[in-house]
Amino acid sequence: MAHTTLLLFAVLGCLSVGLGSKQRGDFSVTDMDMDTAKDGDIKALEARLNATEKELEKVKSDVQLLEKENQDIMAKLNDTVEELEKIKKQNGSTTTGGPKVAFSASLAASGEIYLKQSDASPNLVYKRIFTNTGDAYDSKTGTFTAPVKGIYFFSFSTFGYNDFLSGAILTKNGHYMVSSYDPPSTGDRGDTGGNSAILQLEKGERVSMRLWETSQVFDNLNGHTTFSGFLLFPL
Ligand SMILES: *[C@@H]1O[C@H](CO)[C@@H](O)[C@H](O)[C@H]1NC(C)=O
Ligand SMILES: *[C@@H]1O[C@H](CO)[C@@H](O)[C@H](O)[C@H]1NC(C)=O
Ligand SMILES: *[C@@H]1O[C@H](CO)[C@@H](O)[C@H](O)[C@H]1NC(C)=O
Repeated sequence: MAHTTLLLFAVLGCLSVGLGSKQRGDFSVTDMDMDTAKDGDIKALEARLNATEKELEKVKSDVQLLEKENQDIMAKLNDTVEELEKIKKQNGSTTTGGPKVAFSASLAASGEIYLKQSDASPNLVYKRIFTNTGDAYDSKTGTFTAPVKGIYFFSFSTFGYNDFLSGAILTKNGHYMVSSYDPPSTGDRGDTGGNSAILQLEKGERVSMRLWETSQVFDNLNGHTTFSGFLLFPL
């Protein structure tokens, strides 16, 4: 009985020693695995970080590309808006393009007038308006003001009575352009003259009529003394 017990103890001891050494071996393997696993995790994290960085770079360059595209689109939009503004300005235009601009007037709106040059108002002021489409002719000052840059046509006629010099001058911004001139003469009691010009005007440039220093012009409702003009085409 004692032998059996001893044997049992011996067997148990061996078993426990065996178990113990085996367990110790297992532990050291697990440590190494853990180190390797840690290295693996860091590598994986680094790879993910690298991938994220790469992704970020791509997103950045995509954003730059989009910004560039956006700028291009904005520039095109600006061009289109400009073009549309131009079209709007020209809207309601004649077949030659540009706004509708035409006026025609004669000197006397009523009764009879016989005009000499006056320093107070050097312009001939044509009061009887036949047409003033676009309102570029001002019947208070006698001045035509170009609403757009373009080529304009003007014509005028002058009529004088008696022995006076008859005639007038078409001016652009106050500078003499073309004129009519019929010198004083006895015997011929009626002097008719006229002229025309095609002028390039910048927007805002002015055209008006003036008398020669000593000339006189007459008008009544027969419309002897007139001034007309229109926009041929814009530039
Ligand atoms: C991460 O990028 C660095 C530098 O670009 C490189 O040296 C490293 O090897 C990369 N790591 C991995 C796991 O790809
Ligand atoms: C478009 O026009 C606006 C205002 O007119 C201006 O501020 C902007 O810089 C323009 N953009 C481009 C891309 O030309
Ligand atoms: C041009 O004018 C017409 C009528 O006058 C108007 O209906 C149209 O919208 C205008 N177009 C532009 C582009 O302004």
